[in-house]
Amino acid sequence: MRRILIAGNWKMNHTAAEAGEFFKAFRPAPGAAELIICPPFTDIPVTRFFLEKSGVPWGAQNVYPEEKGAYTGEISPKMLADLGCSYVICGHSERRQILGESDAFVAQKVKAVLAFGMQPILCVGETLIERENGQAEARIREELCAVFQDLPKDKAAKVVVAYEPIWAIGSGQAAEAGDAEKVAFYIRQTIRALADKHTADQVRILYGGSVQSDNIIEFLKEKNIDGALIGGASLKSKELAEIYSKANSISS
Ligand code: PGA
Repeated sequence: MRRILIAGNWKMNHTAAEAGEFFKAFRPAPGAAELIICPPFTDIPVTRFFLEKSGVPWGAQNVYPEEKGAYTGEISPKMLADLGCSYVICGHSERRQILGESDAFVAQKVKAVLAFGMQPILCVGETLIERENGQAEARIREELCAVFQDLPKDKAAKVVVAYEPIWAIGSGQAAEAGDAEKVAFYIRQTIRALADKHTADQVRILYGGSVQSDNIIEFLKEKNIDGALIGGASLKSKELAEIYSKANSISS
């Protein structure tokens, strides 16, 4: 049984004071699904302060794949583990596109996160042009191969894969749940080929791209979709609590 995961990705939003306001108003009803929040680095201490006693884990949105050293401006997995992070988003399309992160670099990040006992949320997904040219699966396969081709199976099972079609992110135009399910199935089959069936059955696959409280259920009903990575809608405490409550209604 794969536990449903609802992951909030705040991106570059909320100052520490705004994060404090968010948490004061955040009252998710407990349930069987897992809920996490990935704030900007600067909000991790305040996030920890508010979430520590609640049982809601937190994560980060990025990491540099070295323990320490002369990497000005970067944050190491050791630092994130020290701040109590349980998850780290790796290879979000905004980082791949805006900051030029390569598949190989993202794979290094995934390994570094696992080495420090945290779980990577590996983002994969195609651009609109790749989709229109029928290259979506080939692109996603490349992104998966870079990570899973030489990962030990016990480590591979801990990776969470977020399928985020780039055209659906922040556009208000979510993918059709049935289409997202086809890609999630493809992702599971690809991991099965790169690792084995047992590993592929354990990996949680999320959908991301314009998820809100009014469409979350459609995605969670799909067999191979085990949760969601949520940007814009995770910035509003009531909306995120509502999404989580709907996820729990499916989990129970
Ligand atoms: P969105 O972002 O929910 O605002 O579309 C999702 C993401 O980029 O993780």
